[in-house]
Amino acid sequence: MFYKYCYEKYGGIYETNNLLRCIVLCRAEYLEDFLSKSTHGMRSANYKGLKELGIEGKGITYNNNFKSWTFNRHFFNQAILSPKFTNEVIDWTNELFNELEGYWDKLFSREEIIKEKKNKLDFFIWFNHYKNDMIIKLLTGERTYSMANYFNTLSDEKSGHQSERVEDSEKLFQAIRKFHTGYLFFSVTTPFIRRYVPYYKNIANDILQNIGFTNQKLDEIIKRRRQQIEDTPLDKPLPHDMLTSMIIKNTFRDGNYIETGEANRSMTDSEIRVNLFDGISNGSYKSANMLSFIIYYIAHHPNVKKKMLEEIDSIFQDDKMRTINKDDFYNLKYCEAIVKETARILPIVHFNTRYIDKPSEIAGYQWPADTLFLANIQAIHNNNDYWEKPNKFNPDRWMDENFEPKKNSFIMFGGGLRLCPGRKLATIELVCLIALLFRKYEINLVDMNSPIKVKCDGGILVSCVELLVEIKPRN
Ligand code: HEM
Repeated sequence: MFYKYCYEKYGGIYETNNLLRCIVLCRAEYLEDFLSKSTHGMRSANYKGLKELGIEGKGITYNNNFKSWTFNRHFFNQAILSPKFTNEVIDWTNELFNELEGYWDKLFSREEIIKEKKNKLDFFIWFNHYKNDMIIKLLTGERTYSMANYFNTLSDEKSGHQSERVEDSEKLFQAIRKFHTGYLFFSVTTPFIRRYVPYYKNIANDILQNIGFTNQKLDEIIKRRRQQIEDTPLDKPLPHDMLTSMIIKNTFRDGNYIETGEANRSMTDSEIRVNLFDGISNGSYKSANMLSFIIYYIAHHPNVKKKMLEEIDSIFQDDKMRTINKDDFYNLKYCEAIVKETARILPIVHFNTRYIDKPSEIAGYQWPADTLFLANIQAIHNNNDYWEKPNKFNPDRWMDENFEPKKNSFIMFGGGLRLCPGRKLATIELVCLIALLFRKYEINLVDMNSPIKVKCDGGILVSCVELLVEIKPRN
């Protein structure tokens, strides 16, 4: 609300000065320099907290060392953007959706439950758990049981998965979730406060303990996978998860391996660990949030819902059971338009940050080194200079073959060098889930008069707090 107020009052560029000086850019044209140069590839200043958190110059998201970021990002992209990985995404969407349906059938689909109107659920929480299991499976190749754990809390009948493994999954996800708070805490407090002021010292210790726990769990997973790869005969195929790809790249198990020494070295375990962590922490909650927003907008736009159901039914006919495949994904054009339109009107990532370490010209002005910029994605996505009737939820705008948003005016996945590497994975998943959900279920909001319940996470992300829906099998 504050940034919206400033945008309306001061226009396309303004400055805030809270703990840090920050230049806020609200026009697509201003992003040209901001996104295009390699010198503007840094996300934040290199503050001391990064070192204490053990991520300084490591991984992708918070890595400000350009050389090391390039190395890690290359491995990450290769693993996640390959066609084999895309197949994995679709296979595991089918598999985990099936598991979710098993739980829903037990809890919400029986006739007497529907008659008694007890078929209500918090859609956001379910998909948060679903997404946890999905991202861990895709990135590490191992199963976690976050959905099963949630089911166990709602049902007297338990999920059937080993209770120890279910509880372990929950501990891991809680630790990963805490990291975001930790990152923020370490970026706004000084080392003195963290070490010597008792209240803050306790918080800092708790965050560091959490990181220690996450690192230990990820190290165990990496060790297990290295052993499995070693035990797999050379003529047998290896799985296509991200962890396996990162371990074997630039080793003799990699099909494209050429021995070149240090120039093409493979990754160490600690590098792999931070990359996995970046993928898990970025990839788990954003899609669950977005899917919740999508459900909300569909429920409030009956014409969009009708058109979407026509598309889904034309592809699946009356078959509510068959698995979804890659061709279905490519044919679900209107569902993809719904994803884009939801991200345009309510982007989860409201702001994109960049930091310059050398004097630069941005938005027509000269800026000194160490200036922090925020691209106000929400303002750009809702500006009528770039969008016709920007406040209208209208997926049809994306259906015109000749339609191309103005440069940098649609940046749901950011842009430039640090463009989101998970964009393909996220889009496939969201489109497939819309189709799997609506071909079989009638999904209505419990309260059509309630505005969407969101909160601001760390000043940058908008996340769903709750989305109560009523589900029943579609007639
Ligand atoms: C709907 C889902 C998602 C949205 C809206 C989203 C959006 C974004 C945005 C806006 C950025 C910042 C880009 C920039 O600074 O220019 C970003 C970065 C990133 N995202 Fe995503 N993302 C999503 C899903 C995912 C998934 C599924 C993964 C991983 C598997 C992922 C991994 C990352 C990583 C590692 C970065 C840091 C990239 C870098 O600094 O080089 N994201 N994402």
